Amino acid sequence: MLILGIETSCDDTCASVVEDGKRVLSNIVQSQDEYHRHFSGIVPEIASRKHIQNLLPVVDLALSKAGVDLRQIEALAVTHKPGLIGSLLVGLQTAKALAYASNKPLVGVNHLLAHTYAPALTQELVYPHLSLLVSGGHTLLLKVASPINATILGSTLDDSCGECFDKIAKYLGFGFPGGELIDKKSLGGNENAFQLPVSFLKKDERRYQFSYSGLKTAAILSINQSKKDGSWNENDFLASFQKAAVTPLVQKIIWAAEETGISHVSICGGVAKNRFFREAVSKLPLKTFIPPMELCADNAAMVAGIGHPLYLNKSFSSPPYSFSADASSFKNKSFLDNNC
Ligand code: KG4
Ligand code: ZN
Repeated sequence: MLILGIETSCDDTCASVVEDGKRVLSNIVQSQDEYHRHFSGIVPEIASRKHIQNLLPVVDLALSKAGVDLRQIEALAVTHKPGLIGSLLVGLQTAKALAYASNKPLVGVNHLLAHTYAPALTQELVYPHLSLLVSGGHTLLLKVASPINATILGSTLDDSCGECFDKIAKYLGFGFPGGELIDKKSLGGNENAFQLPVSFLKKDERRYQFSYSGLKTAAILSINQSKKDGSWNENDFLASFQKAAVTPLVQKIIWAAEETGISHVSICGGVAKNRFFREAVSKLPLKTFIPPMELCADNAAMVAGIGHPLYLNKSFSSPPYSFSADASSFKNKSFLDNNC
């Protein structure tokens, strides 16, 4: 079954064709970084306008790279939540128009569930497994019971891990988004040179929660202090910061695996591109599923991919596709719902 996926929840304009939820025939991501960099963050108004300009050419490219035309597509899948409302609306309305014009079913996809599906595009996942979804917007520890069913074990009490990377990168003048640059510039640094707080939140009810605002403040204080007293070393600082940011993620996988008895673990989201994080997870005495780099950050292959099990589960909409876009992350605090 050929599914065309569309993803515009944030600033990347993405379209992809995936066969049977497995074989990625095309995966086009048009970045808007150059337009947002100047503002050191994503400007929602600019993101929506650029999606309007970019989306149809990106869909055309995804179809032609896959060697198919719209008539051969059997269903469309589109991210309808959560995200920036203007961005979501552009993708959703475009998908509705294309599906309506070609009389095809339309699957509404939860962006977070789609991230958890990304590793399934290249590996045979085992269910249930634990998943760490770490991105610019979210830091979630999940128990994934099936490709379309995930329970939330923990989330962040304040900032997300990706946001912490981006804020420190911005403070150091690296531009936006900065996570990738921190990763690159930390290569070879001494990860024990700077003492930064690792937020474990050990208390029972908080053992699966995360917190990044303390690390953000401590890192900024440490930068200022070491620049003043002459002990500043960018390479060592970034390696130490990365270790402090990633350690709680890895520790909570270990605790969750011990407590649930689940020995299969996946990671996903933009921060899953981080070299230190990937290495630390791959060394765990667990069976790990680590998606390739291009499937970690936002993409439409994960949307077209999860569209297949959702379609088989009859979670699709027929004309006139009455469901709408929804900006909010969780209606329900305990699981990722895909309700349209
Ligand atoms: O999943 P994603 O593309 O977008 C959201 O849904 O948020 O994640 C973007 C986040 C940004 O915070 C970015 O700085 C971070 O992922 N990121 C990284 C790396 N590559 C991207 N963080 C640390 N190391 C990286 N290599
Ligand atoms: Zn995302």
